[in-house]
Amino acid sequence: MQEMNLSPLIGEEKIKETIESMGAALSQKFQGETLVAVCVLKGSFMFYSDLIRAINTDVICEYMAVSSYGNSTQSSGEIKINLDLTGSIKGRHVLLVEDIVDTGLTMNFLKNHLQNHQPQSLTTAALLLKPGALKVECTVDHVGFEISNDFVVGYGLDYQGYFRNLPYIAQVQSLS
Ligand code: IMP
Repeated sequence: MQEMNLSPLIGEEKIKETIESMGAALSQKFQGETLVAVCVLKGSFMFYSDLIRAINTDVICEYMAVSSYGNSTQSSGEIKINLDLTGSIKGRHVLLVEDIVDTGLTMNFLKNHLQNHQPQSLTTAALLLKPGALKVECTVDHVGFEISNDFVVGYGLDYQGYFRNLPYIAQVQSLS
């Protein structure tokens, strides 16, 4: 692994606080209902596991994995499903949980994919949103933090497979 400078951007406590308030809002919205929470692998696994534990209603877990063709720091916009839902979401309340919305292409692709399965409702949550990087109109119902266009790692997010296990979010200073 090449030498990289990481500068902490969002600390563990701040992440925890923010996820607790996202969870409280979702608990209120889906009180008494069953929610199918869709984790988008790999990047969302940490956020997902903290968020569903902050939701105080019945949750069914589903997992998807997608990849976009392109280099390691830029999305190409062509998205491929590597792992799809295993259960039916027809007529269910669905929560789509993404780690980060950058161009918005992945989020829009997943929203379309899930809507095609005719859920009763579809709610989206993303820990991070880069408003300045959006290439398409993309609305996200619950956003943890809005950040600048810099590449970030940690708390599930990677650079070339590394740094997912950092418990905080850091900005990558130099990508060579
Ligand atoms: P989008 O389709 O451009 O919105 O990108 C979505 C995916 O790109 C995310 O789910 C991440 O896997 C990846 N991604 C975008 N920005 C970053 C970043 O700053 N760090 C790590 N992964 C990122």
